[in-house]
Amino acid sequence: MTTTNSTVSSSSQEKPVYDKNVQQFHGGQDWTLMDNFIEDFSVTTNFQGTPKSALEAVTNSFSEVCHYPPINQEPAKSKLASFLFENEAKENHSRLILGNGASEVIDLVIRIASITGKTFKSGPFRAQYKEYERSAINYGFQVVDPCGSQKVDLACLVNPCNPTGDYLTVEQQLSWIQDNVSDNGFVLLDESMQIWHSSNFHDASLLSKHGVILDLLEKRGISVYIIHSWTKIWSCTGLRLGSVVCPTETCANRIRKIQIPWSVNILGLRFLEHVVEDSEYLKSTWELTPMYRAQSVQKIAAAFPDWVCYGESFLSWIWIDTKSISVAETAVSLARTAGVPIRSGGPGYNLPSFIRIAVREPSKFDILMNALSGLSKVAH
Ligand SMILES: Cc1ncc(COP(=O)(O)O)c(C=O)c1O
Repeated sequence: MTTTNSTVSSSSQEKPVYDKNVQQFHGGQDWTLMDNFIEDFSVTTNFQGTPKSALEAVTNSFSEVCHYPPINQEPAKSKLASFLFENEAKENHSRLILGNGASEVIDLVIRIASITGKTFKSGPFRAQYKEYERSAINYGFQVVDPCGSQKVDLACLVNPCNPTGDYLTVEQQLSWIQDNVSDNGFVLLDESMQIWHSSNFHDASLLSKHGVILDLLEKRGISVYIIHSWTKIWSCTGLRLGSVVCPTETCANRIRKIQIPWSVNILGLRFLEHVVEDSEYLKSTWELTPMYRAQSVQKIAAAFPDWVCYGESFLSWIWIDTKSISVAETAVSLARTAGVPIRSGGPGYNLPSFIRIAVREPSKFDILMNALSGLSKVAH
């Protein structure tokens, strides 16, 4: 198995998994190439794996694949609306659209934004999930310095930020939007990782501030779209499930008008319908993720005192500066050789001394730490 900054390849076939000329590098691409795969530390998914009851629902619905999925995405959409908005689900239902992963809705909203917009900026972080920028460039946007003061027509804020773990409060987000977005501009707020916050994730999010979002639209013409990838919190990246909460029903209808019909297949819809009811799964996510994360950070600090761990305590990953490009490269290589791949900060994020490690159960994490202990034997 060999890897460079731009390709993930198998030594037996030397076949790149992604085409660096036209695609973004992503974690989660090594597992099929490994004959000793144990655990994927390269993705930010839930350490518990896919919820069993929802997986069972998917298995049972295989016999339904002879049918078209319902084009109104029901009843999965209504159930997700209840999950997101609780008692206010009915009022907000018409603003919600499901997609084939967050990736589909990211592309749809940016396509709409490109009809009028020219300039794009990502969140004010050192690095941010790159598909927003990729899509913006594809639709002809000019990319502007994320930390500069220029206002833009399209701003994409991933909060909590993957990969850096930075986190802005609702007030900080609103102030950033006010200062960085032009009148009549678009904001894509990606809250995929906000679900890990706590059972209070909704109240601590712009989801709970519809009045403020309407105010921004009315006073400055700024439309805020809240994006969720459901493939991380419910560990179903292979299934493809995402959603967007639009500022108004009219905005939602503009997107629905161009969306490919049935983009969420029947298995995805059935999965969603059941998974939102698995409250035990989320309860243990909120209890155990911060605990396992803190234990992992402690072990990393003890083994590698020079490394710096970043990110909010509730997050499903740790963003680490190893302070050395060669150390980071060796760590990635040792982890892969041991069947526990991690994400390099090099490809895409251009921070090659960084690595990203998912939060996993202690027994799995110890396998990774054991692999990384090889670092002390390698001269840098
Ligand atoms: C912050 C963030 N948003 C969106 C996505 C895309 O997710 P999906 O698998 O739902 O297309 C990812 C995937 O890594 C992500 O990290």
